[in-house]
Amino acid sequence: MVKRFPRGAEHVVALDGIDLAVAAGESVAVVGPSGSGKSTLLHLAGGLDVPDAGTVRVDGRDLAGLAVAERARLRRRDVGFVFQFFHLLPSLTVAENVELPLLLDRSARAARGAVAGALQRVGVAHRAGHLPGELSGGEMQRAAIARALVARPRLVLADEPTGNLDSATGRAVLDLLGEVVREAGTALVMVTHDEAAAARSDRVVRLLDGRLVDGAARVGDAAGVGDAAGVGDAAGVGDAAGVGDAAGADVAAGPAPAAGRG
Ligand SMILES: Nc1ncnc2c1ncn2[C@@H]1O[C@H](COP(=O)(O)OP(=O)(O)O)[C@@H](O)[C@H]1O
Ligand SMILES: [Mg+2]
Repeated sequence: MVKRFPRGAEHVVALDGIDLAVAAGESVAVVGPSGSGKSTLLHLAGGLDVPDAGTVRVDGRDLAGLAVAERARLRRRDVGFVFQFFHLLPSLTVAENVELPLLLDRSARAARGAVAGALQRVGVAHRAGHLPGELSGGEMQRAAIARALVARPRLVLADEPTGNLDSATGRAVLDLLGEVVREAGTALVMVTHDEAAAARSDRVVRLLDGRLVDGAARVGDAAGVGDAAGVGDAAGVGDAAGVGDAAGADVAAGPAPAAGRG
């Protein structure tokens, strides 16, 4: 994938030929210096922005080939986002924030049940009726994790989810995020500066100046590159539900090279 942003008469190349595949149930940490393209990569993977060249496939579907409404539905159902600054809507309660992704797809009754379960799971059920401004940072991020997971997405994209939390709270939030995606068999792509958190991921990819300099091994590629059944084994994913699936998310550009896993 290539992504450029205009800057004056010139442009910045935010992503300069990134080729990355993430298998179902796999957790991938994205590391690299500020400005290396990490957030841009997540935005493209989740369909929040589009590449200038290359293809983004989620669950085998090319995002560029989807109508606007279909892409919106895919983002709502199949992708969950967790951001550094939580991005909860301040005038809605915690429960209403978590319910939002469900409202267009389910009956209000089914949505309420899922919301209660999600809030329970992340430990903020007692905060359901509060406004985000009444919560601590850790509680806000827990609520945001509940919102990201409530629709049972195939892929969760987290951009420095602990960047605004103290280290003890951040550790607890990362533990929670790791547990809930593992339970659900959800693929996780997480930008982090926390080397310990990165080390606990199945794989670490390193960006520098918009290029992948490490960890680009293609696994579980939907186009048939790589052996999906072996991916879970190689990555140490023990959850059978997440193994041998088509790729949960496949961010790919250009001709597929030979499988890089080894
Ligand atoms: N919306 C935008 N408009 C202009 N430039 C942008 C935009 N988003 C990102 N960039 C530029 O692209 C590069 C990569 O940014 P980003 O993906 O945010 O990096 P990171 O998340 O690794 O810090 C930077 O040079 C940044 O200034
Ligand atoms: Mg960023």
